[in-house]
Amino acid sequence: MRTLNIALTKGRLEKYTVELLEKAGINCAPIINKGRKLIIELDGLYNVVFAKAADVVTYVEYGVADVGVVGKDTLMEMNRAVYELLALGFGNCRFALAALKGTDFYSGCSIKTIATKYPEVSRRFFESKQMDVEIVKIEGSVELAPILKLADGIVDIVETGATLRENGLEVVEFFADISARLIANSASLKLKKREIENLTNKLRIDNENNQSRQ
Ligand code: PRP
Repeated sequence: MRTLNIALTKGRLEKYTVELLEKAGINCAPIINKGRKLIIELDGLYNVVFAKAADVVTYVEYGVADVGVVGKDTLMEMNRAVYELLALGFGNCRFALAALKGTDFYSGCSIKTIATKYPEVSRRFFESKQMDVEIVKIEGSVELAPILKLADGIVDIVETGATLRENGLEVVEFFADISARLIANSASLKLKKREIENLTNKLRIDNENNQSRQ
């Protein structure tokens, strides 16, 4: 078996990804004790790197990582030439348009301003409604934008809804389901077919067990 290069998303998906790998029988102790190390070898079969979500997609797209774990939200935003092999059963949330509680987002005819970390997803969403909007890219804590009167609404991922609630916002409309995905590039799918199938099967079996336990 050849070594599989895997790019994992750090942050909110990290803990669940490591749990899934552990349950799939891969010893993740080197990840837990990684310190500041950036490339971690697991079971002599995998070289794992942790990166920001968008970089995971880039590494897989350019083939320096064979496979990756990343949220569907990032895949929808970047729209790159990578294959989705598996929905992993965690990182479940939804894309939503939200606005300050009690405001009628669709009222009036002035062009609305939308703050978001996802300008492409937002552009396509409003295009599908044939609605002209101005989109402002924000890097985080997007909920601040309507409070500070920078925007009329936000497009963001909603998991528990707590961030919206605690900041006086509400969902106007949910429009897409999101979860973590296992992705690969086409070259690796050919050159490391056996290794990728092996990993996918391990993760799939555990994922199915997980879902039947819930
Ligand atoms: C995400 C998202 C919302 C929040 C939603 O932000 O952008 O702010 O989580 O989760 P909830 O519905 O469970 O409250 P994240 O925590 O990734 O931080 P960021 O806004 O700084 O990017």
